[in-house]
Amino acid sequence: MAPPRRVCVTGGGGFIASWLAKLLLSRGYAVHATLRDPCDPKNVHLKQMDEARENLHLLKADVLDYDALTRAFEGCEGVFHLATPVPEDKIADPESEVLAPAVKGTSNVLKACSAMKVQKVIVLSSNAAVDFNPNWPQDRLKDESSWSDKDFCQENEDWYSVAKIVAEQASLEYSEKHGLNVVTLCPPLVFGPLLQPTVNTSSKFLIYVINGGPDVMSNKLWHIVDVRDVADALLLVYEKAESSGRYICAPNSVCTKDLVDLLRKMYPQYSYVNNIDADRKAPLSSQKLKDLGWKPRKLEETLSDSVGCYEKAGLLQGSAARHCRLPHLFRLAGDQ
Ligand SMILES: NC(=O)c1ccc[n+]([C@@H]2O[C@H](COP(=O)([O-])OP(=O)(O)OC[C@H]3O[C@@H](n4cnc5c(N)ncnc54)[C@H](OP(=O)(O)O)[C@@H]3O)[C@@H](O)[C@H]2O)c1
Repeated sequence: MAPPRRVCVTGGGGFIASWLAKLLLSRGYAVHATLRDPCDPKNVHLKQMDEARENLHLLKADVLDYDALTRAFEGCEGVFHLATPVPEDKIADPESEVLAPAVKGTSNVLKACSAMKVQKVIVLSSNAAVDFNPNWPQDRLKDESSWSDKDFCQENEDWYSVAKIVAEQASLEYSEKHGLNVVTLCPPLVFGPLLQPTVNTSSKFLIYVINGGPDVMSNKLWHIVDVRDVADALLLVYEKAESSGRYICAPNSVCTKDLVDLLRKMYPQYSYVNNIDADRKAPLSSQKLKDLGWKPRKLEETLSDSVGCYEKAGLLQGSAARHCRLPHLFRLAGDQ
C-alpha cells in the first residue's frame, strides 16, 4: 500500500486547525500538527480523533522558531499555515503580541517550506486583509481584488488586521519571488461547534451576542462562515491543482440586529445584546471559491450547531453567561 500523503498544520490545536486536522485524517492524510506545548491539556482533543493514533503526529514548534518548523515540515508535501494569535483583549504591545508571530512567523514558515521542498502552502489569512478598504464603493461587492488599507487599520490601532494584511501580502510576494506554490484563504467571522476544550475569540463573539452584556455593539454587516466550511475550503484549494492567489470564503452577511432577530426566533430563551448602534458595509463575494466547487452550509445550520455546542459546554448559563464580554477585537472600528 502507498504511504499516506503527509501534510503539516501549524497551530494544530486551534479552533479552525482542529477541524482541518480532523478532516485531513478522515481523508487518509498523515498529519503533522505543530503546537507550542503538545503537553498542554487544551490540546488533548487532537489525540482523541479517529485515525490519530496511526496518522497524527504532534510536534512542538513556535512559529518564531525556524529550526523547529523545518523539523515539523520534514517529509511533508503540503503545509497549512494557521498559527497566528487572535487576541481577545486590547493589545498592549502590538509587536510581540501579534505582529511578530503573524509576520515573522509567516516568513519563517515560508522559508522553512522552501528549505524542506514543500510543494504547496495554504496560508490562512482573513477578511481583515480584504474588507477594511474605505476607498471601495459602498454598494459594490468586494472580491479578491480588495485589500484592507494598512494605514487605515494602523490609525484605528487594529493591530490584528495590520498583521493579517502584511502577512498575506508577504506570502503572495514570497510565492512570486521564490516560486513556492502559495494560496491564501480569507474567511470572515468563523462560528461553529468547538472541538477544542477552550473557547476561541470568534466563538466568544457569538456567545456575547447570545448572552448580552455591558458592551455596545454597532449594527455592522458581519460576514460569517462555518468552521467546517473553512476546513473544506482549505482542503479544496490545497487539492485543486489550478487554485491560485487568494480566495474569499464569506457565504453569509448579516447585520447585528438581524443576527439577533434570527437567533431569538430559534432560541427565544436567551437575553441577547440590546445595545446596538448604527453602521453598515458593502457585502463580499465568494464566487471565485464557489467556482472551484466550494458548497458552504446555510447560516441557520451554523448557528444551531454552535448554540448546541455552547449549551453543552455550559457557556450560556450561570456565571459564564453573566460575566460575558465582547472581545476587544470586535469593538474596533472594523470587524474581523
Ligand atoms: N476564527 C475566526 O473568526 C478567524 C477568521 C479569519 C481568520 N482566522 C485565522 O485563522 C487562524 C486560526 O484562528 P482560530 O480562530 O482557529 O484561533 P485559535 O483557536 O486561537 O488558534 C490560533 C492558533 O495560533 C497558535 N499560535 C499563536 N501564536 C503562536 C506562535 N507564536 N507560535 C505557534 N503557534 C501560535 C495558537 O497556539 P497556542 O494554543 O499555543 O496559543 C492557536 O493554536 C488564524 O490565522 C486566524 O488569523 C480566524
